[in-house]
Amino acid sequence: MSLFRKKPLSHVGADESAHGSLHKVLSVRDLTFFGIAAIIGAGSFSSIGSACFSGGPGVIFLFIICAVACGFTAMCYAEFASRVPASGSAYTYAYVSFGEVFAWIIGWALLMEYSIGNIYVAFSWSGYFTNLMEGFNIHVPEWLTINYSEAHQSFIDNVAGEGLAAWASAPEIGGLKIIFDLPAVVINIIVTWLVYVGTKESRNASNIMVMVKLAIIVLVIIVGAFYIDIENWTPFMPNGFGGVMGGVAAVFFAYIGFDAVSTLAEESKNPQRDLPRGMIYSLVICTVVFVILALVLTGMVSYSELNVSDPLAEVFSKKGVKWMLFVVSIAAVVAMTSVILVFQMGQPRIWMSMSRDGLLPKKFATIHPKYKTPGFSTIMTGLVVGIPLFFTNPKFVLDFTSIGTLFAFVLVCGGVLTLPVKQKEPGKFHLPFINGKFILPIIILITFILIFYFNPDFLSQQFNISDGNAAKNIPMIVFLLLCIVMAVLTFIKNLSLIPVLGLLSCCYLLTGMEASNWIWFSVWLLIGLVVYLCYGYRKSKLNIK
Ligand code: ALA
Repeated sequence: MSLFRKKPLSHVGADESAHGSLHKVLSVRDLTFFGIAAIIGAGSFSSIGSACFSGGPGVIFLFIICAVACGFTAMCYAEFASRVPASGSAYTYAYVSFGEVFAWIIGWALLMEYSIGNIYVAFSWSGYFTNLMEGFNIHVPEWLTINYSEAHQSFIDNVAGEGLAAWASAPEIGGLKIIFDLPAVVINIIVTWLVYVGTKESRNASNIMVMVKLAIIVLVIIVGAFYIDIENWTPFMPNGFGGVMGGVAAVFFAYIGFDAVSTLAEESKNPQRDLPRGMIYSLVICTVVFVILALVLTGMVSYSELNVSDPLAEVFSKKGVKWMLFVVSIAAVVAMTSVILVFQMGQPRIWMSMSRDGLLPKKFATIHPKYKTPGFSTIMTGLVVGIPLFFTNPKFVLDFTSIGTLFAFVLVCGGVLTLPVKQKEPGKFHLPFINGKFILPIIILITFILIFYFNPDFLSQQFNISDGNAAKNIPMIVFLLLCIVMAVLTFIKNLSLIPVLGLLSCCYLLTGMEASNWIWFSVWLLIGLVVYLCYGYRKSKLNIK
């Protein structure tokens, strides 16, 4: 039996009826709200600051580039969702298009987006929550608001601040310092419980949180607009385009989440029509919000003052608008709670699909008789997020999340290229076919000409190994070769333009990842492969049939 055996499309719906289905309660409005719930969070309240610092006001170009890459990918997700209306998201899509081993790998990579990503958001949530408590004069001791690894690092580096204070004041048991991020642990437990008891309850909670966070962000924009000094917008790109691109990881993280909508197929009233709409609507709304927010932030203060973890609070603090600090903290806590909620709902549904296919133990597919949610998988997700909270570091999990998500996006776009042509059906999403035969090679040619016109040394910079940049440049060299290969393939095979552009734009964003992230990611994939060969390959339903 081949590693590339594919799941027949006809089996996808059959699984749902055979295992008992989830409650179908979600409408297009709910799905759009879920998308926004997943997108606006730690990226918009935290990492936007470092991106503005790196790129200046010109960072809005990066928000637009990422939106375009995510938009193409969303259309590919939508095309899959309209053909394969089942839980499991990109994992299920890969199973019907690429085959089992790719499906497993994508499921393994999505674990990073959903669970590992949530670790980062939980840490950020804790930071804002602690600020909010301070506003009420409630002081949570430092040793209960920071993770062990950061506190230990601060002690080793002897850097004054929260980490060192936590290390100095922490109680000890048997010589071991008790230091952990209590608010992060508690929010994980609360959200796990909420997701366990029901989709409807989670939906109601999520919709309220989205309305609160959107309202407060609009307030931030309106109030902030009065403090804009257009002098701050010149120069628009103080560090050039290189500076703008330096914020790739931070900006891309802000967009992660629109694809979580596709994990809710089984609970949607009309998944083939509503999932694509939900994804695209949420992406458009968030892009508009991000671009305006970035302009307001960089207009209120100089971009050079924005390299902080709480830029929205920072700008109002600098302008002396104290009451807004409180409002921003509430918005941040609410926004991040909804991100955690959506991701915590997505992960169990992917595991449920993998278990139904035999790639994970049966227990992962059991549905709670009363709550109609994937109970066991939900608790496992709570543990996968909760246990690392005690020993991981936020920076590490952030990088891991971005690379895993981009990798999954590349496979989704590539997967669409392998699908057979389908008939247009009324009421269903249909990815428009634009023949890339001539358009793609022309786009690539024009891009190359523009690059060489503005930066004649571009190629020699990439191949210059004397400055020790060889490892750093490899991803860009691979990307350039990929562009040429895709141009030739598209010309010969008349490939569809949208998925090809999605694939190339996501690969471009991947070139921004650091070499160390690639190494960690490769190790992670290797472990996944071993697990698959030892378990999934033997237990797969396709093996038995
Ligand atoms: N986009 C999500 C956030 O910014 C992951 O928190």
